[in-house]
Amino acid sequence: MSTYAEFYRRSIDDRDAFWAEQARLIDWKQAPRTICDDSKPPFTRWFAGGTTNLCHNAVDRHLATRPDQPALIYVSSETGAERTYSFRQLHAEVQRAAAALRSLGVQKGDRVLIYMPMIAEAAFAMLACARIGAIHSVVFGGFASVSLASRIEDATPKVIVSADAGSRGGKVVAYKPLLDEAIRLSSHKPQSVLMVDRGLAPMESVAGRDHDWAALTEKHSSVSVDCEWLDSTDISYILYTSGTTGKPKGVQRDVGGYAVALAASMKHIFLGEPGETYFSTSDIGWVVGHSYIVYGPLLAGMATIMYEGLPIRPDAGVWWSLVEKYKVTSMFSAPTAVRVLKKQDPAFLKKYDLSSLKALFLAGEPLDEPTAQWISDGLGRPIIDNYWQTESGWPILALANGVEMKTSKFGSPGLPMYGYDIKLVHESTGKELTAPGEKGVVVIEGPTPPGFMQTVWGDDQRYVDTYWHTVPGRTVYSTFDWGIKDKDGYFFILGRTDDVINVAGHRLGTREIEESISSHPNVAEVAVVGVADSLKGQVAMAFVVPRDTAGLTDTAARLKLEGDIMKVVDEQLGAVARPSRVHFVNLLPKTRSGKLLRRAIQAVAEGRDAGDLTTIEDPTALQQIRDLMAP
Ligand code: PRX
Repeated sequence: MSTYAEFYRRSIDDRDAFWAEQARLIDWKQAPRTICDDSKPPFTRWFAGGTTNLCHNAVDRHLATRPDQPALIYVSSETGAERTYSFRQLHAEVQRAAAALRSLGVQKGDRVLIYMPMIAEAAFAMLACARIGAIHSVVFGGFASVSLASRIEDATPKVIVSADAGSRGGKVVAYKPLLDEAIRLSSHKPQSVLMVDRGLAPMESVAGRDHDWAALTEKHSSVSVDCEWLDSTDISYILYTSGTTGKPKGVQRDVGGYAVALAASMKHIFLGEPGETYFSTSDIGWVVGHSYIVYGPLLAGMATIMYEGLPIRPDAGVWWSLVEKYKVTSMFSAPTAVRVLKKQDPAFLKKYDLSSLKALFLAGEPLDEPTAQWISDGLGRPIIDNYWQTESGWPILALANGVEMKTSKFGSPGLPMYGYDIKLVHESTGKELTAPGEKGVVVIEGPTPPGFMQTVWGDDQRYVDTYWHTVPGRTVYSTFDWGIKDKDGYFFILGRTDDVINVAGHRLGTREIEESISSHPNVAEVAVVGVADSLKGQVAMAFVVPRDTAGLTDTAARLKLEGDIMKVVDEQLGAVARPSRVHFVNLLPKTRSGKLLRRAIQAVAEGRDAGDLTTIEDPTALQQIRDLMAP
């Protein structure tokens, strides 16, 4: 066994040989001709000339060796449903779904938008798309009609797959009215809508457009649908994520590079072996759900648990009961979930037999030391913080304990993962920072590794302009995260450099929230910032200049307007984006040239010093916010 340092060096210095070896972790119909084509930077083509299929590698490949082994374990603490699908059964379900999509005219390259709660059919739909070479675009079920509409508009799906409703904490959230409204708002109209009817909420059906999942898949239950052999560089999916502008970006991913990256990460980082069980508590609407609920574990021949519900219902032991019952070996969650559990009776951590668990992986937001310590003490298992992005598809910083066992340093997501040439650069000069403890922007030197986004869907220029920044001598990919490195090469992530906030591990754009709030008739101006929160990491806080200030001296009127504004966000973007508070001011702090002083607002809202204010137009604007924040 090599040391991780050697393994890592090889991935950079002997890149093609390294990745050619990793490529053997998956099946290829036709072997790749080239390993890494970086002739047109910053675009990278991995394993060009090779043909493969994600669904084949995730499902069909395992039929010969483990047909009756569990593949997908679906558990809903909301409805009480619990069902295990073996690889053979999963194969059958995915074929039926693929046949149903084909019957609706879906062909290779067509987009299929999936707007679904955490039900098994969502995974069937994703794998069915992968099978026939359709490009899926999963939209988080917690998003509402305006968020959904902008994604429909951009992805132009031929078919949308959805369900009558999701359920959260026992509360049914109807999806169909939100979907119908989103389609109404979008100038692009899907040809067909395929609806799973869970019997949770009534649905109005649009004749000629809407189809019933159960009926259509049943009709095609005897049709066999072979995997389409796709070029490695064909598109597997689009997943929208927030950035600086109000318009979400469609992160576009390939087929072959993604399959190799995930298979390699399962082995080297996530300690996954065929026949074992993986449990990621994320949602299929986020990148963690794509990579580590659906594709990664199945590629590795593992069973994967798909869980619908809260971590504390029926009680705070529900996840651990699943670990015991299904002998989970690797578990993946987010720091916020651990902080939620930390507020509950710690006896739940001791109630179940967790001896199967090799490690708990946490990602999506900064993992604070006390939380890491608490869960580490409680579980007595390694806690592996890992840092990455929708754009990367798999960990950028972590520990590769499958290569060499290393101990975590709490507060740090670890070391650069193989394939990533990570640097810290100065925010404005772009000069590389090498001294331990120097704070800089985390950047990646191209070529980006397999699994990394190919481009922004439909907009190569936006990919280049958004992410690739020229620093002295070269162009690098910006993660938009601040970081520092210690003397052992461990990184620490210190938050975003842009207007993205991270609420309970959910990545949200403050500009999107501002746009939504601005649509309220009584809002003249608004600034939304992320404010530190002990439970959720961050919460969104809005500062609004109302058009009509007359009534706002009255507390009841203020509360009413605050509630109305929150309702607008709920209806347009979804409750995930709802600000925790809406405060009213009569002006916002701006520079003399009219630029909003976001960092100053955020600092004051967090009770910190506002920093350099020499350019501020009117200091009373910040004073108002200070007064509002005073306890
Ligand atoms: O700011 C970083 C934060 O989440 C962002 C990416 O979010 P998303 O695209 O939703 O992908 C999540 C994939 C796990 C990053 O730019 N972030 C993610 N993981 C960590 C983190 N911040 C600190 N520590 C982490 N482990």
